[in-house]
Amino acid sequence: MNPPPRGAALVTGASSGIGLAIAHELARRGHPLLLVARDPGRLAEAAAGLRRAHGVVVHELPGDLGEAHAAEALLAECGARAVLPLEVLVHNAGFGALGPFDESSPDAAGSMIALQTAFPVRFTRLALPGMLERGRGRILIVASTAAFQAGPFMAVYYACKAFLLSFAEALAEELRGRGVTVTALCPGPVPTGFQDRAGVTDVPLARSALAVDAARVAREGVDAMERGRRLVVPGLANRLLVFANRFAPRALALRIVRRLQERRTAKA
Ligand SMILES: NC(=O)c1ccc[n+]([C@@H]2O[C@H](COP(=O)([O-])OP(=O)(O)OC[C@H]3O[C@@H](n4cnc5c(N)ncnc54)[C@H](OP(=O)(O)O)[C@@H]3O)[C@@H](O)[C@H]2O)c1
Repeated sequence: MNPPPRGAALVTGASSGIGLAIAHELARRGHPLLLVARDPGRLAEAAAGLRRAHGVVVHELPGDLGEAHAAEALLAECGARAVLPLEVLVHNAGFGALGPFDESSPDAAGSMIALQTAFPVRFTRLALPGMLERGRGRILIVASTAAFQAGPFMAVYYACKAFLLSFAEALAEELRGRGVTVTALCPGPVPTGFQDRAGVTDVPLARSALAVDAARVAREGVDAMERGRRLVVPGLANRLLVFANRFAPRALALRIVRRLQERRTAKA
C-alpha cells in the first residue's frame, strides 16, 4: 500500500540559504511546497530547481512578510493555491544588521521586528486552528544560537531570535499531545548570503569550528521537526557553546560578544 500523500509545506525565505535547503529537504520527503520571498526572480529560480530535482508541486508566493497584513494575505494565498492542507509551516525568513544601535535606521529595526517576530506569531495564530482541527501539523521556527545570548552591536537581531526561541518553546509545551508540534532550529554560523546582507564580511566562516553548511542544518532541522523535538542546535561545537553559556556570568558573556561584534563593526 502506498503511504498517504504528504501535506503542503510553507517555507518563508525559501529563495536562498537555509530556507532553500529546508525546501529541498521537504521536497525530497514528498511535500508539495509553497515558497515565499520578496525577489520574484530568485524565487522562480529556486522553485524551478526544486521541481527539477524532486518532481514535486511548487507554488511561488512572492511578497514582503514585514508588511502590515502579510499574514492574512499569505494565508488566503495558501488556501487558494494548495490542493492539500497545510501540514508543515517553516518560519525562516530573516536578516541581521551589524552596527551601533544609535546609528541604525529606526525603520530597519522596525522591519526586522515585523518580519522576525510579528509575522511568525500572527501567521501561526491564524494557521494553527486548521492544524489542530486536523490533529496534524509541524511548525519549524528558525531562531539561532544568538537566541541564547544578548548581542551588543546586533542588539535587535539577537533580541528577535530570543523572542522566537521563547515563543517556540512555550508553544511546543502548550500544544503537547494535540497533534501539532513546534521545533526551534538554532543554527550557529552558516555560510549563506546572510553575512553579506548583515554587513558581517570579515568572518572566515570556512575555517570556523562553529560553521555548519546549510544542507546539514536543514537535514537536522527537518529530522528534529519530524520527530516532534522542541529544540535542535546543529553541530557539536555549537551545542557545547550553548551549554557553556548557561554557566557563564551574564556580564562576562556580554563583554565577550561585545568584543567580537565590535571587531566586526570596525572592519565592516
Ligand atoms: N546564516 C547564518 O549564519 C544564520 C545563523 C543562524 C540563524 N540564521 C537564520 O536563518 C534564516 C535564514 O537566513 P539565511 O542565512 O538563509 O539568509 P539568506 O540567504 O539571506 O536568506 C534569507 C531569505 O529570507 C528572505 N527574506 C528576507 N527578508 C524578507 C521579507 N521581508 N519577506 C520575505 N522574505 C524575506 C530572502 O529573500 P528576499 O531577499 O528575496 O526577500 C531569502 O530568501 C534567518 O532567519 C537567519 O536569521 C542564519
